[in-house]
Amino acid sequence: MPYERPLFLFVSPLLAAAALGCAADRPSQPEGWDSAVALRPALDRDARPEVVEVDLTARVEEVEIVPGKRTPTWTYDGGLPGPLIRARVGDRVIVNFRNELPAPTTIHWHGIRLLAAMDGAPGHSQPETPPGGGFTYDFVVPDAGLYWYHPHVDSAVQAGNGLYGPLLVEDPSEPAGLGDELVLVLSDISLRDDGTLEDPQVGGNLGTLFGREGDLLLVNGRVNPVIEARAGLRQRWRIVNAAKSRYYQLMIADHRFTRIGGDGGLLERPVTTDRILLTPGERADVLVVPRGAPGSTLPVRWVPYDRGYGATFGRPEVEAFRLRLAAEPAAEDAPLPEVGRDIPALDTAAATRVDLKLTQQESPGGVEMGINGVPSWEAEPLVAAVGETSVWTVENTMDFDHPFHLHGFFFQVLGADGEPVRPMEWKDTVNVPVDGAARFAVRYDNRPGMWMFHCHILDHAEAGMMGMLHVIQ
Ligand code: C2O
Ligand code: CU
Repeated sequence: MPYERPLFLFVSPLLAAAALGCAADRPSQPEGWDSAVALRPALDRDARPEVVEVDLTARVEEVEIVPGKRTPTWTYDGGLPGPLIRARVGDRVIVNFRNELPAPTTIHWHGIRLLAAMDGAPGHSQPETPPGGGFTYDFVVPDAGLYWYHPHVDSAVQAGNGLYGPLLVEDPSEPAGLGDELVLVLSDISLRDDGTLEDPQVGGNLGTLFGREGDLLLVNGRVNPVIEARAGLRQRWRIVNAAKSRYYQLMIADHRFTRIGGDGGLLERPVTTDRILLTPGERADVLVVPRGAPGSTLPVRWVPYDRGYGATFGRPEVEAFRLRLAAEPAAEDAPLPEVGRDIPALDTAAATRVDLKLTQQESPGGVEMGINGVPSWEAEPLVAAVGETSVWTVENTMDFDHPFHLHGFFFQVLGADGEPVRPMEWKDTVNVPVDGAARFAVRYDNRPGMWMFHCHILDHAEAGMMGMLHVIQ
């Protein structure tokens, strides 16, 4: 059995038969093809099929990120990234969390439409969990898609030190045979010569302003791993950008990707593209068919994306990971099954409006950012009512892009004309470009409470670019 499918033990015999049937129809990837990017599965302690119960402990552990060097890293369960939690749509997920870090923390379940009390927003959902303390997260996962978890206390430091992990919510009714699946957690990290983590404040105010990027690109915690592939066979990559500042733009020479999903599950219909762009926090569900001479290598390149001032001072392209094609000749894959879904546009005729500006303010104490000129620690919450539909316009007044994230609700991105961008998709994070704005429509379903929104460049969030939305009954 593939390493990452322990929960299929609990899938009904019918589904299991369907899955096996499909595996038999398609030729297979080389033996051990995905072992270089294997994720540790979270162990489900609950035998009930519709309940996933896992233990998760945050602690400092020495991890070998660069060969021969021991790096004391902040981890979930001792590894980088945290274990893959796998559930199916509608499951109840229980996470028995223990904090063995030297600092207080919480866990935020990025993208999941859960109750506010489980959202991990310190001071709003729950108190911070102190060192030696614990918290039980208990929520239902209503939507298929790739999600992720990370701390919401001192998040630039804590996520930057290694605290992040994937949560995959599968939909058993999805067509089989989309491709051989990988979950890829992209991030980056900087190490000193002795292997220890770089100072999270490196670069001072300028570091905060630009957003700190690590020098080493990590794919599931590994530097430049090699994925074995059979030419002609479709792979399905479920990708999350868990880096605290770095935008990931990926390309493979002479290849195109078919994107079938994003933050909140499948798109209305697939789109093809020559590159995948993910801001921090965003996810993509993409298909790729590697092609080339048997035995050859295909670099998957990180290509610079200008998120302001060249953002990276001409940082060169770098190989993020690579595909190595097996010696066998190309295989013939089964045709791509039809994949997509109806996403009705939210009715905005009577929508309320939220108008925000992302700002940087004069401040004696260093770099201060905010929303509408006010840093998070001085901001009054926005107020909205359950059932309301709202159109947000988020304007960028700075010389850097900002990936804007709203907790708890999916939204539909609107074009300048106010119409939804096609193909339609549900999102929770959207880029706000330099000199531009992002517009989206959101409906507050019946989950009252305090919800955060912020820039997902975590250095910016911690510098004040965060706010609160109070949804009242
Ligand atoms: Cu991943 Cu408050 O966010
Ligand atoms: Cu920002």
